[in-house]
Amino acid sequence: MSHNTISLNQQRQPLEHLESVWLFGYGSLIYKTDFPYLQRKPAFIYGWQRRFWQGSHDHRGTPQAPGRVLTLIEAPGERCVGMAYQVTPDTFEHLDHREKNGYLRVFTELHWLDEPSQNTPSPSTGLVYLASADNEAYLGPDSDEAIAAHIARSQGPSGPNSEYLLKLAQALREMNEHDEHVFAIEQQLLKQLNQLCR
Ligand code: SIN
Repeated sequence: MSHNTISLNQQRQPLEHLESVWLFGYGSLIYKTDFPYLQRKPAFIYGWQRRFWQGSHDHRGTPQAPGRVLTLIEAPGERCVGMAYQVTPDTFEHLDHREKNGYLRVFTELHWLDEPSQNTPSPSTGLVYLASADNEAYLGPDSDEAIAAHIARSQGPSGPNSEYLLKLAQALREMNEHDEHVFAIEQQLLKQLNQLCR
């Protein structure tokens, strides 16, 4: 599958007939909200975990030197906490462009971290951007040390790859969410950056 997914997402999943759609963000969509939304709520999805296994050619790296960003892997019994946004379908024009590097939108069940209200029954249905192993930008697993070193040396049009990791880790802390994978790589990154400064 090509890593540019804009037209694939639009063909597979037209959304114009819907009044609004929930979008679940688990990576940069948690802390970089560069799109309008009607409301947002902390949420989680079952059976998935964050992994820094996706290459970034367009945001935190370049086609010649891709950075490392998040995707989700299937993890039965686990849950992934993130931020859900209620948006109008036209917002996906921007979002599909932003998430074009290998991510396909899929519908999933969303559970609210806080009490659901009358307007937001739990579970609700929402969309999540997933980059599966068959997209051309997929990098796959590596050790925490190697992933941190890769992030430390990468940057792209959206800025340093390290900023992606550090802002995400901070946002998760603010949500009281402990993500072992993210925090282990953050610790490695800080150690490596510290050594460079000596
Ligand atoms: C997401 O945040 O939900 C998708 C991955 C990313 O843009 O970092």
